[in-house]
Amino acid sequence: MIKIISVVGARPNFMKIAPLHRAFLKHSDKIEHLICHTGQHYDEKMSKVFFDDLELPKPHYYLGIGSGSHAEQTGNIMIEFEKILLKEKPDYILVVGDVNSTIACSLTASKLHIKVIHVEAGLRSGDRLMPEEINRVLTDAISDHLFVTEKSGMDNLKHEGVSDDKIHFVGNVMIDSLAYYLEKAKQSEIHQKYALEKGNYVVVTLHRPSNVDNLDQMSNLVNLLNTVAEKRKLIFPIHPRTRKNLEQFGKLKELHKNVTLTDPIGYLDFLALTSNAELILTDSGGIQEESTYLGVQCITLRTSTERPVTVDVGTNQLLGTDLAKALDAALSVLNGNKKQGTRPELWDGHAAERIAEIIVGLN
Ligand code: UD1
Repeated sequence: MIKIISVVGARPNFMKIAPLHRAFLKHSDKIEHLICHTGQHYDEKMSKVFFDDLELPKPHYYLGIGSGSHAEQTGNIMIEFEKILLKEKPDYILVVGDVNSTIACSLTASKLHIKVIHVEAGLRSGDRLMPEEINRVLTDAISDHLFVTEKSGMDNLKHEGVSDDKIHFVGNVMIDSLAYYLEKAKQSEIHQKYALEKGNYVVVTLHRPSNVDNLDQMSNLVNLLNTVAEKRKLIFPIHPRTRKNLEQFGKLKELHKNVTLTDPIGYLDFLALTSNAELILTDSGGIQEESTYLGVQCITLRTSTERPVTVDVGTNQLLGTDLAKALDAALSVLNGNKKQGTRPELWDGHAAERIAEIIVGLN
């Protein structure tokens, strides 16, 4: 038996672990799979709703770490996760993405000589001011098996000297979830709830520190949203840190009446929203990929992307440096000028199955 502990911590992790859990269950004669939730995200709407929507089992371990500075959060996760590893002695731990839980748990495991599997390895924005970039570089440096979503990831890892036998190009497990749940998301009643007409509204998500922790940038973004709101309804499910900062900066009350703010939205309802949007304005990593798969127009309000395939072949436009340009591009999309895109290689809904096969073959 191969014992694997998979780590989830923050919202973008849940939809990546769900298809892996399903794929591992198909090999339950060879793989014993446990899930550990660090508790980095703990609000019902940032965590529990995803377990329900994605049909994930209750985690075998819940560390209850919560928020804190980067050092506090990372350190606290390490201290608690080490106890689980000493008790369970797994053959592998599996981490996804680039959040603080990812680096904290991979570092803990590698120091105990437990092998680390990193899913969604190799992505690089080149911007070391992003906490996620530090997490990506360090996690990849100590991982034993690196599963990659797009060709740029292969090039980045080779450039950093990772040996070929550790790297596997398998596609995108987050897209596995999207493909699996797209049909079910059609039953969502979110459009009626917020009086939105399918194909005729804009979805907004903003939560990066570089956008929402800074008053000038936040003011410019509010101006951008308010101008777009003269043309279309906007729906803006708001991350807790963004809400807190908008309130503190006194910007909440400045938002146009066509901007509907909501609490964070669950997986299926959010998928219903994005798949029927005319345009998405975001600074998320994952939403760039989801919009490319869906063929929905996406403008990314960041200066760099670690997911260049979404710009090279997908429907994503990277326009964070100059918000006047981003506004022009948004208005142009709403006038019918759409960027044509295709789906990246191996984004076919079966990445998790490929990963499971490879892991079974390792032993
Ligand atoms: C984290 C990830 C980021 C990911 C994002 C998705 C890191 C470094 N960042 O950022 O890559 O895109 O998750 O959401 O790991 N908070 C709550 N309730 C919660 C969780 C957070 O109120 O359930 C608030 C707290 O004020 C907290 C703040 O949000 O201090 C930030 O949370 P944190 O987990 O540190 O980072 P995110 O900004 O969510």
